[in-house]
Amino acid sequence: MPIEFAERIRRIPNYPIASGYDLGGDVAMLASNECYFAPLPEVVEAAHRVLVGANRYPDPSYSALREALSERYGVPAARIALGNGSCDILLAAGEALLEPGAEVVYAWPAFSVYPHLAATSGARAIEVPLDAEDRHDLDALAAEITVATRLVLVCNPNNPTSTALGLDEVEAFLDRVPGHACVILDEAYVEFSLRIGDPYASLELLRKHPNLVLLRTFSKVYGLAALRVGYGLCGSEDFRIAVDQVRQPFYLNTAAQAAAVEALRHQDEVERRVAQTIAARMELEEEIRALGQWVAESDANFVWVRLPEGSVEQDVLGGLASRGVLVRAGASLGREGALRVTAGTAAENKRLVAALAEVLRA
Ligand SMILES: Cc1ncc(COP(=O)(O)O)c(C=O)c1O
Repeated sequence: MPIEFAERIRRIPNYPIASGYDLGGDVAMLASNECYFAPLPEVVEAAHRVLVGANRYPDPSYSALREALSERYGVPAARIALGNGSCDILLAAGEALLEPGAEVVYAWPAFSVYPHLAATSGARAIEVPLDAEDRHDLDALAAEITVATRLVLVCNPNNPTSTALGLDEVEAFLDRVPGHACVILDEAYVEFSLRIGDPYASLELLRKHPNLVLLRTFSKVYGLAALRVGYGLCGSEDFRIAVDQVRQPFYLNTAAQAAAVEALRHQDEVERRVAQTIAARMELEEEIRALGQWVAESDANFVWVRLPEGSVEQDVLGGLASRGVLVRAGASLGREGALRVTAGTAAENKRLVAALAEVLRA
């Protein structure tokens, strides 16, 4: 007789994992919106150094990282949630806030983990379509908020479509959200956003909105995706306490904590990476547009391309893969007939553009 699993297991969608991690060699990995810069030697060294103490559990208060983030952003340490990647905080938020009868509201397509929150909790997911330019439609989102809404997710810049909202628009939206509903502004790509300006700009919103959480990650510009460190800057302490309550005590390992603290000390490098990545992304946008394709107005480290009518997404993807270029299919991210392409090195981007030109011509 097979094992009998909880009913919700059938509801939880499979996260669209990227392929290619086992290929090694000469492959352009443009499918997961990572940063192509390796961690700095000082960061690797910091992670290494603490391994000799790996017989001890990690500091369960994560005090060094909390303090470092508190100092950088001027948010009290007690209002900083940490997680094993920002995904961990998202899933914990779902567990802490949602239950049958509650509602979670978000734009769609947005980050692929959002549908898991309703599926695991039994809450109702309300997915609000993006506008014609693949941007959030904040009026439509606001119209869906009711007394049953516990959580609103706004992805800015939005993954997978790369578009961003200005903070004036976000602020006007927040003014319309009642205090009982928690708003997570998912800013995984905030450092790359020219529209937002800089990673300090949205902090102002926390002062006025205790129900707001700015969700951030070390997986992108800090280049630590494999170590899994995310954080939430919270408008009130309650959110941090609740997400800590639903998780195991040691969700962030010692090496990850040490690496993140060290990475924060190198903001010059962060700025250099941002400048280089934005330049590469702009070039990629231009070159793909020059092939005659529609590309969304990107404000992140990736681009979103609508495929021409009649082209078969899987054929395009297969054609690119056979030329050693891995990108993400729109269908796996909530919208058939599109591609999400991470900005890579100049050589990788060139390879992608040449391969795409060939595949679309075929
Ligand atoms: C919008 C968005 N939020 C959150 C995450 C999760 O990042 P991590 O769990 O690596 O911190 C990602 C990762 O791609 C993302 O695109």
